[in-house]
Amino acid sequence: MTATGTHKPAWAGDDFLSKVVNLLIQTKPLYALMKRQARQVLIKTAEKNGIPWRQSCVEFEASDIKALLPAIENATITYPAYYQVPFHAYDAGNLCWQAAFEAESATYSMALRVWPHEGLTWQAAQARLRSTFHEVLGAYRPEPVTQLLDMGCSVGISTFTTHRFLQQRQTAPIATTGLDLSPYMLAVAQMRDTQNEIAQWRHALAEDTGLPAATYDVIMLQFVTHELPRVAARAIFQEVLRLLTPGGTLAIADNNPKSEVIQKLPPVLFTLMKSTEPWSDDYYTFNIEAALAEIGFQRIVTQETDPRHRAILAQKPPADSE
Ligand SMILES: C[S@@+](CC[C@H](N)C(=O)[O-])C[C@H]1O[C@@H](n2cnc3c(N)ncnc32)[C@H](O)[C@@H]1O
Repeated sequence: MTATGTHKPAWAGDDFLSKVVNLLIQTKPLYALMKRQARQVLIKTAEKNGIPWRQSCVEFEASDIKALLPAIENATITYPAYYQVPFHAYDAGNLCWQAAFEAESATYSMALRVWPHEGLTWQAAQARLRSTFHEVLGAYRPEPVTQLLDMGCSVGISTFTTHRFLQQRQTAPIATTGLDLSPYMLAVAQMRDTQNEIAQWRHALAEDTGLPAATYDVIMLQFVTHELPRVAARAIFQEVLRLLTPGGTLAIADNNPKSEVIQKLPPVLFTLMKSTEPWSDDYYTFNIEAALAEIGFQRIVTQETDPRHRAILAQKPPADSE
């Protein structure tokens, strides 16, 4: 796990290379071609590794999942413009059934790409991706947890795994809330929650949750910040500070701009990555730690968790320090 010392990849931000890539992506016929290619490669790689990508979509289509939507959807939400753009090669971004039906398979494929030369199964890769984050979180915050909030929970993979990790450390029950802006993702999460482990699946904006202040001991954002322009990320950090109990923990997992692997991605791959992640330039040039300090967090710690990712942990000041 080495870092080059450079703060961000040359293909992100204002560099010449970054501008050339952006021009390619903005050329519509080229973008359409890249999108199709990216999708084919993704599905083929997943299925070659035993992830039942197309089969699970067929099963969702045949289920009665769509009937869950009215009870989950908060019709008063106004979706911000940054969210209503194509993400991950879906024209409707996260706001469609296809994105939700494929999210689990896409998450498993993502973990496989972290350790391409170790012959890991997708299950082992996913477990390792989460456990490296949990190790850092567990060491940072050994105290028991009463209320856990997973912002940007998507179909619930991060919600279940972190809930279970924290729960097996203690006997007192943890009330966990999974929150997301996509009601489609939440419907899949709800359907996967066959044991009713999660207290609430909530359709809301992470920057304006409507949840009570000073309630949650741990709030996490796993693989969410790279999908946000920095102005939205800052607004979410403000909301996290409001929602945390004094001394509570914010735990972020996401791509590491200093990762040598990410910085040295071959041109085809970083072009594809930028074409499916519209806020890459903003994310890779955003100093999250500085923003957290400015907003009022303390004990800010960043740690590499694997060759591509980092964890950032921060604390709301305890009551006695106010
Ligand atoms: C890559 S997924 C996160 C995956 C999940 N946390 C995990 O680790 O498996 C990002 C999620 O963030 C959600 N999201 C993005 N912006 C959001 C916002 N402003 N408020 C709530 N959710 C948001 C998206 O809908 C999407 O489901």
